[in-house]
Amino acid sequence: PTALAGRHFLKEADFTAREFRGLLELAAELKAAKRAGTEQPYLRGRNIALIFEKTSTRTRCAFEVAAADQGASTTYLDPSGSQMGHKESVKDTARVLGRMYDGIEYRGDSQAKVEELARYAGVPVYNGLTDDWHPTQMLADVLTMTEHSPKPLTDIAFAYLGDARFNMGNSYLVTAALLGMDVRIVAPKSYWPAQEVVDRARELAVSSGARVTLTEEIAEGVAGADFVATDVWVSMGEPKEVWGERIAALAPYAVTMDVLRATGNPDVRFLHCLPAFHDLGTQVGREVYEAHGLQSLEVTDEVFESAHSVVFDEAENRMHTIKAVLVATLA
Ligand code: CP
Ligand code: NVA
Repeated sequence: PTALAGRHFLKEADFTAREFRGLLELAAELKAAKRAGTEQPYLRGRNIALIFEKTSTRTRCAFEVAAADQGASTTYLDPSGSQMGHKESVKDTARVLGRMYDGIEYRGDSQAKVEELARYAGVPVYNGLTDDWHPTQMLADVLTMTEHSPKPLTDIAFAYLGDARFNMGNSYLVTAALLGMDVRIVAPKSYWPAQEVVDRARELAVSSGARVTLTEEIAEGVAGADFVATDVWVSMGEPKEVWGERIAALAPYAVTMDVLRATGNPDVRFLHCLPAFHDLGTQVGREVYEAHGLQSLEVTDEVFESAHSVVFDEAENRMHTIKAVLVATLA
């Protein structure tokens, strides 16, 4: 068994910086082994339940492929495919699945639910995204940053532009604070993470040496950044009526070529957890663009398709990093 055997992964700060880095190292090893065709299956005979109360492409596929590569099986439960929440409590579901499965992934709205699952399951529970945190995404993003920067992790600076009150903004802030990075949250003040999240980040920064900046000024926020990241302005579960107010508030914070130039770093890289509204390729996007006279939302197509963009490396890394979590907690 590894040092993380049996552990949950409900939010980034569940792990120490050392443990988090250990997972990144394991992910890099597993990635290299898969590429070289030398991957060893450490999870033969293991079974993993995947509960999705919200839709997914990357997270679901990452868990399924990671498990398959490692010799484990998965069961996918979609919002209509389980009794949880409608006919059966979270607590009972946890105790049932815990008798059959070796690990449980949960994606939904409430952090309290994934924590309740973890409390009663008796097996490791993984947060596949809640409204508050997206911890498996953070492993992929930091791995991608280390792959695309020659700097040591603690020297890397990144700026997150957009709605920072939700999972991605919260997770970036706390992850960077945990790992000792230079993080800038660049958004209108009313879109900054909740005060308790900022306080937690500042507390972590004291011991990690992280530089934590929250600013409304784009030029100040992105200056010298190695990476610029953003996320959708309206998250899953939010009503479409909020698009108008989001666009009004966040349009100045869209990631454009001008924003990348403002970093002063010709090698700056662009990150996005995806899905992204950068072109006319989505139905929701088309409706919103039409109503508001836009052609893209949080990032322009020019940036998204440019050599700066590493979003597909980031997406691929979801699988390698989730595999590391499974191996570390279940092998
Ligand atoms: N980035 C991410 O979590 O993507 P999915 O919603 O497709 O899983
Ligand atoms: N903030 C987004 C992230 C999607 C991966 C959402 O919650 O919908």
